[in-house]
Amino acid sequence: MNAPTQPRMQEEFLTLHEIVAAARRNLAPGPWSYVVGGAETETTVRRNRLALDSLAFRPRVLRDVSRIDSGASFLGRRVRLPVMLAPIGGLESIVHGGAASAARAAAQFGVPQMLSSVCQPGLEATAAAADTLRVFQLYVRGDDAWVDDHVRRALDHGYAAFCLTVDVAMYSRRERDLIGRFVKPWRATAPAGSSFQSGLSWDQVKRFKDKHADKRLSLILKGIATVEDAEIAVQHGVEVVYVSNHGGRQLDHGLGSAAVLPEIVRAVAGRAEVWVDGGFMRGTDVVKAIALGAKAVGLGRLPCLGLAAAGVPGLVRTLEILENEVQTCLGLLGVASFAELTPQHLAAAPPVAEPGAFSAFPLLGDPP
Ligand SMILES: Cc1cc2nc3c(=O)[nH]c(=O)nc-3n(C[C@H](O)[C@H](O)[C@H](O)COP(=O)(O)O)c2cc1C
Repeated sequence: MNAPTQPRMQEEFLTLHEIVAAARRNLAPGPWSYVVGGAETETTVRRNRLALDSLAFRPRVLRDVSRIDSGASFLGRRVRLPVMLAPIGGLESIVHGGAASAARAAAQFGVPQMLSSVCQPGLEATAAAADTLRVFQLYVRGDDAWVDDHVRRALDHGYAAFCLTVDVAMYSRRERDLIGRFVKPWRATAPAGSSFQSGLSWDQVKRFKDKHADKRLSLILKGIATVEDAEIAVQHGVEVVYVSNHGGRQLDHGLGSAAVLPEIVRAVAGRAEVWVDGGFMRGTDVVKAIALGAKAVGLGRLPCLGLAAAGVPGLVRTLEILENEVQTCLGLLGVASFAELTPQHLAAAPPVAEPGAFSAFPLLGDPP
């Protein structure tokens, strides 16, 4: 746990810019588009960045930041940063070992991994690959018994919580993948079993909570994007409201996650944890989320790029640089830990560049 990367990685990658550039070089066009793309016009992808790029900092000075603690607690356990690897399906098309490689990097650095049910090598083998804090994310593609079987397997293999992704009622149109023929034609519209996901309602959330109440299993609903649904989730006893628009890969023309986060934090009012993802690429982004009241930040594309850049060491190095950025930001804001951050450290400001998937990396030009 928490072993530094080898010196070669530290010399090769001084910045996240270099990680992204290496990922761009290493990935074939199909997997690259799969990672960076979004739905249809990719407006939601851009709005995720717009929401973050429209926040500026209000730094305080002379506050003794000689010792900075950028650790956090996640489901009651200490983690090195308030971030987690968000669930990514098909990681095996990006890095050898798929989710097992992500698990090894998460364990080596010291952050949690959320495993996608549509990622190889699967629930059991990923758990066996590394001893890290892990959460299991399910796409519902079977009946209640099928769901319960996944709960049992997740508990048997040490997953600390269970996540249902609820923003996939329809299989979206990812046009980069379609144009590049990266998605097999027979999967281009809907994967097998997806009618179960379309048929989900709050009844299934109620059933889940009732059925598994005795197991003290935290339930996370990933893909909440409105105050109204956050309220219903809390009323159903959900432990974590995970604000997400799937990285702009599902509904096009949604709002940016960081734009809806404050009102959801206010509405939930401490009755559940609020996590967030969508466009978080830099240390400053993570700090903004926590200042807005999120408890944890999911990283989707960034870990994919770290893995594509240089496998497990590449992702560990990505997280090290992110941590350095976080600590630099906290210190320059005049806070020594996340606990001292408040919304008063933020102000609205117009973005300085056109927001997009890569506006966090302006020195790259335009990689897509
Ligand atoms: C390549 C890729 C695959 C994804 N697969 C899943 C998945 O299997 N399950 C899920 O809930 N979300 C999935 N997501 C969404 C992420 O978990 C996360 O919500 C999103 O990527 C966050 O936005 P960001 O990529 O801008 O950080 C995927 C995202 C990407 C980029």
